[in-house]
Amino acid sequence: MNEEMGTSIFLFVICILSGFWFQFVFPAFSPVDNLLFDCGGSNALKVEDGRTFRPDLENSDLGLFPKSDIVVSDNGLGMSNLYKTVRIFKEMSNYSVSVKQNGRHWLRLHFFPVKNAQYNLNTSVFSVWANGIPLLHEFSFAKLGKGQASFLKEYVIPVGVLDSKKLVLTLSPLNNSVAFINGIEVISVPQSQFPTSVVPIPLGSQVEIPTQKAFETAYRINMGGPPVNPENDTLWRTWEPDQKFLINAAAASSVIVDPSSIKYPPGVSMEIAPNSIYASAQEMGNANVGDQKFNISWTFAVDHSFNYLVRLHFCDIVSESLNNLVFNVYINNQSAINDFDISSKTNELAAAYYVDFIATVSSNSDRIMVQVGPPEMRSLLTNAILNGVEIMKISNNVGSLDGFYHNDQNGSKGSKKKRKLGITIGCSLAGSALFIGIAALLWLYFRHLKKPKNKQVAWLPLPTHVGNSDTRVSIGSYASMSPSLGLGRILAFSEIREATKNFDESLVLGVGGFGKVYRGALDNGVVVAIKRGNPRSQQGLVEFKTEIEMLSKLRHRHLVSLIGYCEELNEMILVYEYMAGGPLRKHLYGSDNQPLTWKQRLEICIGAAKGLHYLHTGASESIIHRDVKTTNILLDENLTAKVADFGLSKFGPTLDQTHVSTAVKGSFGYLDPEYFRRQQLTEKSDVYSFGVVLMEVLCARPAINPSLPREQVNIAEWAMHWQKRGHLEHIIDPHLKKSVNLDSLRKFGETAEKCLADYGIERPTMGDVLWNLEYALQLQETLTESVADENSTNYIPDIPDCIPRIENVNLSVEDIVSEQASDEVTTGVFSQLMDPKGR
Ligand SMILES: *[C@@H]1O[C@H](CO)[C@@H](O)[C@H](O)[C@H]1NC(C)=O
Ligand SMILES: *[C@@H]1O[C@H](CO)[C@@H](O)[C@H](O)[C@H]1NC(C)=O
Ligand SMILES: *[C@@H]1O[C@H](CO)[C@@H](O)[C@H](O)[C@H]1NC(C)=O
Repeated sequence: MNEEMGTSIFLFVICILSGFWFQFVFPAFSPVDNLLFDCGGSNALKVEDGRTFRPDLENSDLGLFPKSDIVVSDNGLGMSNLYKTVRIFKEMSNYSVSVKQNGRHWLRLHFFPVKNAQYNLNTSVFSVWANGIPLLHEFSFAKLGKGQASFLKEYVIPVGVLDSKKLVLTLSPLNNSVAFINGIEVISVPQSQFPTSVVPIPLGSQVEIPTQKAFETAYRINMGGPPVNPENDTLWRTWEPDQKFLINAAAASSVIVDPSSIKYPPGVSMEIAPNSIYASAQEMGNANVGDQKFNISWTFAVDHSFNYLVRLHFCDIVSESLNNLVFNVYINNQSAINDFDISSKTNELAAAYYVDFIATVSSNSDRIMVQVGPPEMRSLLTNAILNGVEIMKISNNVGSLDGFYHNDQNGSKGSKKKRKLGITIGCSLAGSALFIGIAALLWLYFRHLKKPKNKQVAWLPLPTHVGNSDTRVSIGSYASMSPSLGLGRILAFSEIREATKNFDESLVLGVGGFGKVYRGALDNGVVVAIKRGNPRSQQGLVEFKTEIEMLSKLRHRHLVSLIGYCEELNEMILVYEYMAGGPLRKHLYGSDNQPLTWKQRLEICIGAAKGLHYLHTGASESIIHRDVKTTNILLDENLTAKVADFGLSKFGPTLDQTHVSTAVKGSFGYLDPEYFRRQQLTEKSDVYSFGVVLMEVLCARPAINPSLPREQVNIAEWAMHWQKRGHLEHIIDPHLKKSVNLDSLRKFGETAEKCLADYGIERPTMGDVLWNLEYALQLQETLTESVADENSTNYIPDIPDCIPRIENVNLSVEDIVSEQASDEVTTGVFSQLMDPKGR
């Protein structure tokens, strides 16, 4: 008896204390970091919610912006005074915010295109990164549509992954445009705000959310209640009302109670959501009247190909007694909670409760649907409620919140001094380091996932709606998809299995280090090549990621297109356009393919050179392929060459760098000797490998053939031996002897020789190589036309004593090709310039 009483008293005291604690502590939450900046402001600015924003230049550590401008304007009544000043950047600039504590921080960015005579901020286009994580890629107000006056973006950014206690915000205007920002908030996120692991939809074992993941708030909704503004939220969040997201407004009716009646059990606090969120809800229209059967449904437009953290807030403010309210919760038409009884979790009415899920939005969907409705079993009273929803976009596998672009910046690590100047191109290497860091962590994370748990866990709990024909994106419509979303589409493993007839061995096109390549047909009839990675290969994972990342950024007639990928169930599957002709090597030797003519060979080399030239110069950053060889040049049914396999690719050096230091990777026989010696990678390493390819095309033998006499083993050495003597024709493919024109051959040999120069600096650019190959083709074609006679002295059977020298036209290809947007156009220019008859 005594003992029981003791326990009761003890519990009672705990209750009182905890009640006291909650009431006392929560309103007083004070974040370690609470940094508010008024960009372009000159005095401390008190805004409508009572907070004070400091001028961004008050603290010169943040950055000095000599190339920036400030516009001040009165935007009229009703606009926040934060929007009266704006800082405008004419070049890439950083705000470097020092924080007291590492970990997650809210980052809120305020944008308002202040009207002014000098800049049209409504149409300016710019990108924004935080600690190297792309937040906005080529953002413009014009894209938001009319009626969008101001723009508040909220993110959760991990600080300390890269640079301790620094949050570097980078704004970068597109060419000839400007970037602008009105206000910045950096606020510590409470430790337990976000879960470390979450239940996926469709339901399965918990999925981890690594701490280095960044989030973007997509929606924060107060069901059934008014908007909640920053002053009514302990973390200064904004909550929107839900009406416009209801699919059928008549299905719902709102309930509002006094916020002070809301109780917070342990584990839930005002920082999870203020009591005004729990004090309102939508319940079923005509609730508790008879046996109703419908759902209340909300739909939220989101970006596809991302995972989202979906947080649902519940608080039973409608029931008279415990255990009366039982309902189902669905996300994306999938069951999230069955027969949910809030009171079984809270043991009291009007107590706050929340639950998190992770939902994947695949490339053929663009919304998240949340539904609550009565369970199947009959009950006398039917009702269902929802108090609040938060939807947070989670950064993708390339560490981006906007598309497949990772850190588009590059350069050397900004020194302290440079950073203070604020005009650094800076943070770039740091950014790449972050990216590498994230990649490494992801790798660890994936590796961790690979350890078998009770059940297989997929990081992408894949789409519920794959196979839904009305929402399917057909392959042909890729080009029209939003460019900021990358081009690869996430495919379900089931789709892949179907396409390959369950990985039927008869469909195997080839086997490589990475795994097997299958021919398959998607259910829209498109024939594809499906590369299935060996899940045990850890190297493979890095290459898999690199390939998705690179190919998602690139699109060119002479680069193999990535159609999609699948990483469900630890699979690493890449889906490419199908190249019916297979690898170039198979058309040169070792198969019974018809030997290619000289013209075909030249055209193939030109195609591949265009692809590589585009890689080196066409994208925003130069990309070095690192594994150029005849098996990585694929041919389609018309023998159009496309460069493939970007698993080893790397971003090239930027203007202020001469090379990228990296461990030597590549294929034996094709490897640039200078890169091998110095481990310094430049575009010229690809040029060397391409020189080997040219010789291979000419001689129709492998780059390395150990069965040959010693001096002939390495094609680069052997061919150079003959080229230097001016008698390359001695070792060319015998099939060519009849058709090759000697001038064309000479030009080709000279080009290959230059590519194979010992030092990168002596080698031509891919643009020059392309130019010379086009010239070789012109020579072949012109002379073929004019000299129909097979016995012409221009053909090898009658080698002239003195081979005439071909004049070298010293025109840099860069003068001609400004943008390699359409290679057709360029080809036209080339042909004009080089037509020996035309000029
Ligand atoms: C928000 O706070 C203000 C002042 O603190 C108060 O007057 C107002 O009623 C609050 N609104 C809500 C929805 O709680
Ligand atoms: C859910 O199902 C409805 C009706 O069957 C359909 O219209 C809707 O597109 C589906 N939503 C999702 C996200 O799959
Ligand atoms: C509610 O929605 C779910 C998922 O979309 C569906 O399976 C269920 O049948 C719906 N319930 C009612 C009563 O319409």
